Amino acid sequence: MHEFLHHLQNEIDKLQAARTFKVEVPLQGPQDHEVTVDGRPVVMLTSNNYLGLANHPRVRAAAAAAIEQWGVGMGSVRFICGTQLLHQELEKTISEFYEADDTILYSSCWNANEAVFSTLTGGYDAIVSDELNHASIIDGIRLSKAERYIFRHADVADLESKLAQARQDGARFILVITDGVFSMEGELAPLPSIIDTCDRYEAVLIVDDSHATGILGARGRGTAEELGVWGKVPIHTGTLGKAMGSAMGGYVTGPKPVIEILRQRSRPYLFSNSLPPAVVGAALEAFRMVIEDPSRTRQVQEHAHYFRQRMTRSGFRIPHGIHPIVPVIVGDTALALAMGKQLLARGVYVSGFGYPVVPQGHARLRAQISAAHTQEELDHAVEAFVEVAQEHRLL
Ligand SMILES: Cc1ncc(COP(=O)(O)O)c(C=O)c1O
Repeated sequence: MHEFLHHLQNEIDKLQAARTFKVEVPLQGPQDHEVTVDGRPVVMLTSNNYLGLANHPRVRAAAAAAIEQWGVGMGSVRFICGTQLLHQELEKTISEFYEADDTILYSSCWNANEAVFSTLTGGYDAIVSDELNHASIIDGIRLSKAERYIFRHADVADLESKLAQARQDGARFILVITDGVFSMEGELAPLPSIIDTCDRYEAVLIVDDSHATGILGARGRGTAEELGVWGKVPIHTGTLGKAMGSAMGGYVTGPKPVIEILRQRSRPYLFSNSLPPAVVGAALEAFRMVIEDPSRTRQVQEHAHYFRQRMTRSGFRIPHGIHPIVPVIVGDTALALAMGKQLLARGVYVSGFGYPVVPQGHARLRAQISAAHTQEELDHAVEAFVEVAQEHRLL
């Protein structure tokens, strides 16, 4: 035991020496556009609470009402005795949102991505995946017996060559998987040409739209709606932990047989507790709010545009885009982390990311804009960025 603990402590020391050791900063209240840290109010510019629903009175009330009506927990997986009408109502609502046949809930989108590949594919099949897909997709694919092909990030010509290879290798079925929005860049996958290419090779496309649901498109339906290919993505995975209430949970939505086989066979669904009523009630309310009224979706898009424009005009290197994820590239990892601390001291909470999360030399602060921010908060954030950047002679 002693040697084992000594070994682990060495690993921790290495993280600290490499300055990649993560420190958690506790919030002294709810998640919102403004939060309390160390007794001070700060603008929250680093959360996935894109629509500002994490602490919205309607969503809070829905969660509380769900506890009153349905209790706190299920004490069961879905298929034994862990399904309430409430779970089915949320699945039905998500299906309507995507205009899909059916939906299955998971405890997280991590679990959903862990479930799909090993359940839907076998040893004769192929999975073709973007090299920058989310960690949950990478791990999910590892659980499948299918042959793996990785295409260069957002490179449709390379996707095509991998599909041709998979066909030549005799794949029975081919699944292609991409993030709808890549979370370190706020960059959209080139879905129209991915869809065309999948069609030509009779491959089945899955899009993980965790960072797009409720955020992109005129009605918040996500990347496919934004890029004019609504209805052409057969299977989506998504999260309830970001725009759609920010609590937790995930789902797969798509054709009936896909969802049914996941319900019958997917291990994270069969062997893990079902979502608690408060979480289901909160997510259901969030979906209803986005369906009833697209103004929050429009608001987060407008805020993202405003912040991107002001930052670019102030001289920052912001990759071109529309998404409320706004990466501010500063290059060096230690610099990004130091700037994050200085921004926090100026009342703006934004995370720095460096190698190995992003490539060497591309360290960044990742700002995330919410519909709930006020213009004053966004202006304050830009001014704080400018001051800190000037201190480091970046501007
Ligand atoms: C693209 C993508 N997929 C899946 C997930 C995991 O979602 P969840 O928090 O619901 O497990 C994330 C969250 O970081 C994500 O960005």
